[in-house]
Amino acid sequence: MAGSSFTEGNSAEIVAERLARSDGSLPRFLAALVEALHRVVKETRPTPSDWRKAIAFLTEVGHASDDRRQEWVLLSDLLGITALVEEINSRRPKGATPNTVRGPFYRADAPRLPLGADICLDGRGEPLQVAARVSDLDGNPVAGATVETWQANSEGLYENQQPDLQPEFNLRGRFTTDTGGQCHYRTIRPKGYAVPCDGPVGQMLGAIGYPLRRPAHLHFIVRADGFETISTHVYDAVDPDLAEDALFGVKPELVGEFRRTGKQKNWSLDFTFVMVRARKDRRAA
Ligand code: BEZ
Ligand code: FE
Repeated sequence: MAGSSFTEGNSAEIVAERLARSDGSLPRFLAALVEALHRVVKETRPTPSDWRKAIAFLTEVGHASDDRRQEWVLLSDLLGITALVEEINSRRPKGATPNTVRGPFYRADAPRLPLGADICLDGRGEPLQVAARVSDLDGNPVAGATVETWQANSEGLYENQQPDLQPEFNLRGRFTTDTGGQCHYRTIRPKGYAVPCDGPVGQMLGAIGYPLRRPAHLHFIVRADGFETISTHVYDAVDPDLAEDALFGVKPELVGEFRRTGKQKNWSLDFTFVMVRARKDRRAA
């Protein structure tokens, strides 16, 4: 029999040696994963029955995922892995608007609307006037940028979570910035919410008291020719969950102030998105 036999001491190296017989990034990724997983097993010392429970959990995560719901993405989001991948891949110069996770409630087919349109289609909630400006790093306006937005309603629920209760495309829209790089629209002030807790991931993490709430936010994707696409959130500065976003998405540059306007329950938000010129050496998003 060639080589040494498998022991607790050499377990990861033995597997890594087999993986190293092939070239490429996949064997390298698997070797790193094996090294991390073997370390966890050695540290936590599960029994075979504990390990079967872990596998049963992962099986449930797979069963809970389909075209409409991605429980694996939720697991990655809540353990900070999605945010880490974003950090590694979209580091931007100081002053530029950072990216955050896109989340599961995005729809690519939101309607294109004229500036000033109201995206709240059911008239429910406290009115909010959003004035967004898109500029480059030198403060020059980016005209003709597409600003796509989506958000939860005043109960913290997205249109595609309540297809029978909210009008289709409620609180979603796409706008184009004018020659001054400005775009404005009407909506309602969103409420924060808990990530979906009816699946295996939310249930497991909820049972150990893990933070599952997201502070109130608006989602945006800003695209313009020659610039890196911004996919981000703007958070409500006074939300009590701001310090502990379940998805690790809050950054100081992404906190916006919802200011009271004339009437008592009317609000306005001014926010500037700062774009960075696209670079050829960037890896694909
Ligand atoms: C969201 O912000 O829409 C979101 C992101 C990840 C999990 C749940 C919700
Ligand atoms: Fe969201």
